[in-house]
Amino acid sequence: MTPKSPLAAKAPTASHLEMTEVVLPNDTNQLGNLLGGRLMHWVDIAAALSAQRHSGRICVTASIDEMSFLGPVKLGQVVRLRASVNRAFRTSMEVGVHVIVEDFRTGDTRHVSSAYLTFVAIDEIGHSVPVPPVAPETDQEKRRFADAQDRREKRLDTRKKLVERERREHESEHAGE
Ligand SMILES: CC(C)(COP(=O)(O)OP(=O)(O)OC[C@H]1O[C@@H](n2cnc3c(N)ncnc32)[C@H](O)[C@@H]1OP(=O)(O)O)[C@@H](O)C(=O)NCCC(=O)NCCS
Repeated sequence: MTPKSPLAAKAPTASHLEMTEVVLPNDTNQLGNLLGGRLMHWVDIAAALSAQRHSGRICVTASIDEMSFLGPVKLGQVVRLRASVNRAFRTSMEVGVHVIVEDFRTGDTRHVSSAYLTFVAIDEIGHSVPVPPVAPETDQEKRRFADAQDRREKRLDTRKKLVERERREHESEHAGE
């Protein structure tokens, strides 16, 4: 049997993962609510693992789209994060992460946050390397795949404006030197 090419397309299910955390005292503020920064950290980890599973490479976070926290998460509650790669481009991938909180007494769940992150696959010396494409299968996967292209364009546009602004600020700081 011929071995599969490392750049053969993969379904989003191949990179799907679920991560479970419990909110401990060190994760909370003075009110006993989960810190937003801790949740962002867990989201970043879940997304990185998903990107690495898709690409078979070490992956670094290039950007995180805006995040909202839809309600408080209390000390002792269980947080479940579901991540998968929505779309791969050349060396980058968009990962979607969906976060729910679960009450272990009743089994009730509540959606608390979602995020889209972009990861870049890199080699041992830090150069970006190509990743396999995503082959969506279900209607939901196809919708996420299509929407990912629009989000990428917005992100790259934001990045371009940031780079341009930094260049202008640098030039005005050094003007007349
Ligand atoms: C992410 C990083 C590898 C990109 O390197 P670069 O030389 O600027 O990248 P390039 O312009 O060659 O782009 C590489 C890919 O990243 C994508 N990319 C770069 N910046 C991006 C951004 N802000 N948002 C989305 N995608 C981005 C590019 O579109 C490109 O994707 P493609 O190959 O699929 O088209 C580099 O900026 C880096 O190492 N950043 C720090 C990463 C890190 O340490 N993260 C942890 C937090 S500090």
